[in-house]
Amino acid sequence: MKLVPKPPNGNSSKVDTLLSAGDPGFKKPVSRSRTIRIDFRDGFVAPESLMDKFVIRGGNPLVGSVRISGAKNAALPAMAAAILTDEPVILENIPDVRDIQTERNLLVSMGAEVELGYGRASHRTTISCNNLVNPEAAYELVKTMRASTLVLGPLLARMGRARVSQPGGCAIGARPIDLHIKGLERLGASITQEHGYIEASAERLRGGHIIFDKITVTGTEDLMMAATLAEGETIMENCAREPEVTDLAALLTKMGAKIQGAGTHTIRIHGVEKLHGARHRIIPDRIEAGTFVIAAVLTGGDLQLTSCDPTHLGSLIQKLEECGVSITSGTDSMRVTNGHQLQAADITTEEFPGFPTDMQAQYMTLATQSQGTSIITENIFENRFMHAGELARMGANIKVEGSRAIVRGKTPLSSAAVQCSDLRASASLVIAALVADGETIIDRVYHVDRGYERIEEKLKSVGAQIRRIGEILPKRAAAPSVVA
Ligand code: EPU
Repeated sequence: MKLVPKPPNGNSSKVDTLLSAGDPGFKKPVSRSRTIRIDFRDGFVAPESLMDKFVIRGGNPLVGSVRISGAKNAALPAMAAAILTDEPVILENIPDVRDIQTERNLLVSMGAEVELGYGRASHRTTISCNNLVNPEAAYELVKTMRASTLVLGPLLARMGRARVSQPGGCAIGARPIDLHIKGLERLGASITQEHGYIEASAERLRGGHIIFDKITVTGTEDLMMAATLAEGETIMENCAREPEVTDLAALLTKMGAKIQGAGTHTIRIHGVEKLHGARHRIIPDRIEAGTFVIAAVLTGGDLQLTSCDPTHLGSLIQKLEECGVSITSGTDSMRVTNGHQLQAADITTEEFPGFPTDMQAQYMTLATQSQGTSIITENIFENRFMHAGELARMGANIKVEGSRAIVRGKTPLSSAAVQCSDLRASASLVIAALVADGETIIDRVYHVDRGYERIEEKLKSVGAQIRRIGEILPKRAAAPSVVA
């Protein structure tokens, strides 16, 4: 399947989707091909009444095996990295989630050719940016996915200019991108902000010394990508150490970049004239894995996770062991069993390797079922407790005081109509529904679809009673106007 830009005489922002017989993963007869018109707006405007819901009947333990998908937050920068070269970049283990579709559309809107694998290769994406014509990330795309700003550094480095819509605030906090901008200016870019857009230009970026005021994951990734093609050496201090940063550095290194220190606080990059194509397998999604672990723990299940990386989940595993959970880790698998009463334990979200903010909401659901009081402190985002109110509607005893949530357990959860506010908040509600008494209806599940690949199918395969309703629009077509 190939996504290519619409011919120049096109009058709307549409892309063609073609089945490609040349794809080794293509198993159907080669004569079968089709062209689908995708309107960019399909993903963004959907009357709320038509949006999908989950109906979940709680009470079943999760038993069996679940395969963990590739990490959305590693795949997004890896796809942006393809901008840095005119040769094809082949990415494997790309998750089939809404944010990835958004990024594909973004790249196609710039002139990239994006080919999708088929059948067994359906998680492979090949991106060719040899004909980038439009170095712009339009508001319609950026407003639905803030990670679109990851194209800023690569566009500037490769094309010498970029026009990227400024993301607004989002459900979990203000989330400015000032550190991306400051860093690029340190590399010699001229940047203006007008009419809601960031306009950046530079003849050729030059190496510089960047000390991030605050640790930022996509900021580190954006600047690392920009510096690969800058003239001379760049030293970046106070960098994010997340596995997704290290994975991006691994891809860039395969493309010919000279990077040292990724995964530590200081990254050194020797800029090169040109990068080339590469093939890379995206790391497993540690947050998807953690979400399934907590779901298994709470339902008193026995769940095997495959294709995961337990070394990326150290802080979560340690905390769950403190709560009384038993977890056995292999090289790329984990088994979680739980038949005991959970004990309360406090968490504080921190940058990696600390407890991830992206697991805070799911942990809060767990805390509602633990014996005693758990104090949850959110240090990364200022407004990431939207799920607390919804959990309270299901019977949880949670008091939010600024950046702290005090959860008193154990309180039985009962079914209710609840609503997702962001991606991880949605996951916390799905987990709560799996242990609630009765049938819970979860609205606005487009938030879940942004980052969890077919969560309902995976959960159903290990015994959960979950179904999707209201699928009047094409599957996964609905998306929010302001998102995390
Ligand atoms: N910040 C600034 N200025 C900047 C950039 C960040 O002040 O220029 C602040 C943010 O407001 C926040 C803190 O720095 O308070 C950390 O934000 P960071 O930049 O690290 O977040 P991000 O890169 O925008 C990524 C993930 C998030 C994850 C955070 C923290 C991607 C695509 N997104 O966001 O993932 O929560 O790091 O780990 O990698 C999710 O998957 O649900 C999600 C929100």
